[in-house]
Amino acid sequence: MAANGTPETDEFWIFGYGSLIWKPPPHYDRRVPGWVTGYVRRFWQASQDHRGTPEEPGRVVTLIERSFWASLADAHDSAPEKVWGTAYRIKADKVAEVKEYLDIREINGYTIHYTPFHPADGSASIRTLVYIGTPDNDQFTGPQDPQALAEHIYVSEGPSGLNRDYLLSLEKALDELSPESGDAHVTDLSNRVREIERKRRAGELQVEGFERPVSHEFKKVSSVDEQEETEKA
Ligand code: SIN
Repeated sequence: MAANGTPETDEFWIFGYGSLIWKPPPHYDRRVPGWVTGYVRRFWQASQDHRGTPEEPGRVVTLIERSFWASLADAHDSAPEKVWGTAYRIKADKVAEVKEYLDIREINGYTIHYTPFHPADGSASIRTLVYIGTPDNDQFTGPQDPQALAEHIYVSEGPSGLNRDYLLSLEKALDELSPESGDAHVTDLSNRVREIERKRRAGELQVEGFERPVSHEFKKVSSVDEQEETEKA
């Protein structure tokens, strides 16, 4: 048995909760919808390499440990117990190649973690690798005002495309997983972005006038434990 109580097998699985849902890794042979627990998905990871630049970082999702998130003041003050996403099974002879590909794709502050994944069809849980931008990484922004965050996402762009396309693709990909896989944080930001677009097209809004949100007040400290102390203080 693995430390987390899931059976050890030769199988290698990756869980995606962001772009990995609609942009799979190369060489998977099974794609399974389902969820993990104990986390909250938030657009609190700055992206300098995919949906922004080092000068103007965009925002992408990361997972925050639920107990830590509960200690923060978040305007989106509820979050689903289940973080829906997709698990991919990677064949043994492709694991090294896929890991190398993802280590580069997820290089901007994400680190490797393992978590039990629950397939939507009710079959046994699977140990999955997951890339998470933890609160002690330099790209972690901490809580963001939802309207300022939506405006920031609306104007950001990077080598992988428009930041708002990432957001809207995530909303669509989540909706397609199951009738209960939506995430209110993602839907609220998507609705705000659609409203910005509507107003801009109607000539009611000059997006050039958007203030870039002040990066954040989140104090960077050396460990998550210390961070927790800082936030509670
Ligand atoms: C993921 O999809 O699992 C990681 C976050 C991202 O690349 O969007």
